[in-house]
Amino acid sequence: MNYQKIEVVSRWQSPSNIALVKYWGKKGLQIPCNPSISITLDKAISDTSMQAIYDENQNELSFDFYFEDTKNPSFEEKLKPFLIHAQSYFKWLQHYHVIIHSSNTFPHSSGIASSASAYSALALNLCTLHEAITGESLPHFFQTASYWARIGSGSACRSVYGGYNAWGESKSIAGSHDEYAVNIDTEVHPHFKNIMDSILIVEKGKKAVSSTMGHALLKQHPFAEKRYETAYQNIDLLMTILKSGDMSAFIQLVESEALMLHSLMMSSPTPFILMKPQTLQIIEKVIDYRNQTAVNVMFTLDAGANVHLLYPEMEKTNVQNFIANELVQHCENGLFYDNKIGTGPSLIV
Ligand code: PMV
Repeated sequence: MNYQKIEVVSRWQSPSNIALVKYWGKKGLQIPCNPSISITLDKAISDTSMQAIYDENQNELSFDFYFEDTKNPSFEEKLKPFLIHAQSYFKWLQHYHVIIHSSNTFPHSSGIASSASAYSALALNLCTLHEAITGESLPHFFQTASYWARIGSGSACRSVYGGYNAWGESKSIAGSHDEYAVNIDTEVHPHFKNIMDSILIVEKGKKAVSSTMGHALLKQHPFAEKRYETAYQNIDLLMTILKSGDMSAFIQLVESEALMLHSLMMSSPTPFILMKPQTLQIIEKVIDYRNQTAVNVMFTLDAGANVHLLYPEMEKTNVQNFIANELVQHCENGLFYDNKIGTGPSLIV
């Protein structure tokens, strides 16, 4: 293979996403046990550059990883298996020394999941470098990026596009696949187009149980099969809701998925609880507030204590007042981050 460039740089900014129907449980090489659907955020972003320098004497993977301009050996250890695996496709990797710089627009210890934004940015950079180095253009650029993002972290495969995305094969989603995500924006009613996500930080810092351990615990879970069956049904239901614009059905489904995720954690053979008292206080207040005011606001959770408040943009003033008056007191140091549905990653260089 004749490589075209001696030195190449690529830089992508890529966002995080929040799942509406959750991925929880995997098999084989990062294959989900059920399909999932998420929305991509606009502000929780990883900004990642990759510089690849050709070395004719190099025959194996060689890279440095800097997080916020400081070399980070512990992230390098985590990244190594991913890049080793990526060499099977990005064959040039073994002849190039790669220098990676990454930073997040949200604070590192905010408790906001960063693996989705981080791995989607890395995978997009690999695809851009691949095109520059080999001179070939990838026929399905974003699909390939989604495939490789998935290898890094399952949920990351849904971050390579903006808007609404589905990952995992489902009869109700055309083109859906277990190995990469597809964008489903054309199926989404205008009622759901301008969704906002205010992330209420209940707990900063690292979670007690990683999502890798959480997925593994489903293997011996007594309710696993029932969960997968329900998740498939919820995907069909959500697709119908997204097309129809039925907001109350949307709220009911989104909240039920969040609580089911956490009830699976609490009922696993080695049980664990990621919600905190403040998480439940917020949830109760959200339900009461919605019942009293009829404002369309709902909660969802990822694998942590923080609460994602979802609402249509037209409810912004009401919800922001509600946060300021009722919810901010339950946030660690009063922290919350306003996001809205985003347009997806952008290529900087
Ligand atoms: O991508 P992972 O392995 O970190 O798992 C993410 C799991 C959830 O965030 C709980 C659900 C999801 O679909 O994003």
